[in-house]
Amino acid sequence: MALEIKGERIYSKEEEETAKKEIWKYILGFVPIAAVKCAIELGIPDILENHETPMTLAELTSKLGCNESLLYRIMRFLIHYKIFQEKPISETLVGYTQTPLSRLLTRQGENSMADMVLLLNSPFILAPWHKLSAWLLGNKVFPFEAAHDGKDFWGFIAANPNHGKLFNDGMACDARVAVAAVVEGCSEVFEGLKTVVDVGGGDGTALRAIVKAFPWIKGINYDLPHVVSMAPAFPGVEHVGGNMFDDVPKADAVYLMKVLHDWRDEECIEILKKCREAIPHDTGKVIIVESIVEQKEDHEFKEVGLMLDMLMMAQTCNGKERTLEEWSYVFREAGFTRHTVKHIQTYHSIIEVYP
Ligand SMILES: C[S@@+](CC[C@H](N)C(=O)[O-])C[C@H]1O[C@@H](n2cnc3c(N)ncnc32)[C@H](O)[C@@H]1O
Repeated sequence: MALEIKGERIYSKEEEETAKKEIWKYILGFVPIAAVKCAIELGIPDILENHETPMTLAELTSKLGCNESLLYRIMRFLIHYKIFQEKPISETLVGYTQTPLSRLLTRQGENSMADMVLLLNSPFILAPWHKLSAWLLGNKVFPFEAAHDGKDFWGFIAANPNHGKLFNDGMACDARVAVAAVVEGCSEVFEGLKTVVDVGGGDGTALRAIVKAFPWIKGINYDLPHVVSMAPAFPGVEHVGGNMFDDVPKADAVYLMKVLHDWRDEECIEILKKCREAIPHDTGKVIIVESIVEQKEDHEFKEVGLMLDMLMMAQTCNGKERTLEEWSYVFREAGFTRHTVKHIQTYHSIIEVYP
């Protein structure tokens, strides 16, 4: 029955037919992700990457030592989704090869996003989503805490080093792509800086790329002690353990990438005040790399920002992706006087904030 208001149809027949197809995206939305995760865990993108010619089903089966007919069905599905593709080997034989998408799913490689797929689809990250509606309806316990025996995200990570490694690896692959876009698209941001402290810098991936691109910069990678203790050494980068709510090492500029979105406004203001104390009042700045939601001009990564906002809702204690107005508020409250925004080729923007 078509929906009618005062005898008038409010949706066309065509819209209703489209909805009947679209609904399956939500009913079975997890299936492509699960199949991609399976392919990464089996190492299929890496095997195809390292094979010079397209690989037949028999070759791939033998390399993996798996069941041929199950593998065939996984590959048929992923080819439909253009994750992999088929190429003719001879008149009668076809083989599987990579696509630009599956090349992002190899475990190695500077643009790899495989660890991010594994992180965001791991059981400990999926569990809080099931607690979201209860939280919206007034449950006082945050979704992450409800799913993890009362521990918040950082407490849980500290207590579970294996999950910590999964988290740091996932963050690192996103950081590689983001910082490459910063360095490529906005190198002027680093002009004149001799020292940069990356607050919440994780395993130092971003800072490694920054000092590699601008070798005169001395980098301080600042994160919680258990995080920096696992960070690899790199020339030009010093790892310092500490708590950004207590203090921040002094430098010409603070770099803050995907840190503030984890926190509510009051906590962001506290962190930013510590950052302001760490930089010179007259020449210093804080370089924030985060997404900005509800931007006026349409952004090709707009959907990613909105999805990350949902992620922050499920995983953090009142963290969120912010509009420019919401960003301006926390900067002002932390005592900063002005900021500028630059867009780069990822879902992030660069916001330079000045005392
Ligand atoms: C979302 S991750 C971002 C990591 C990195 N900046 C990136 O873009 O990949 C947030 C980081 O903040 C760090 N962090 C959380 N609480 C902190 C604290 N109190 N002091 C210092 N770092 C903290 C976490 O360990 C984590 O590495």
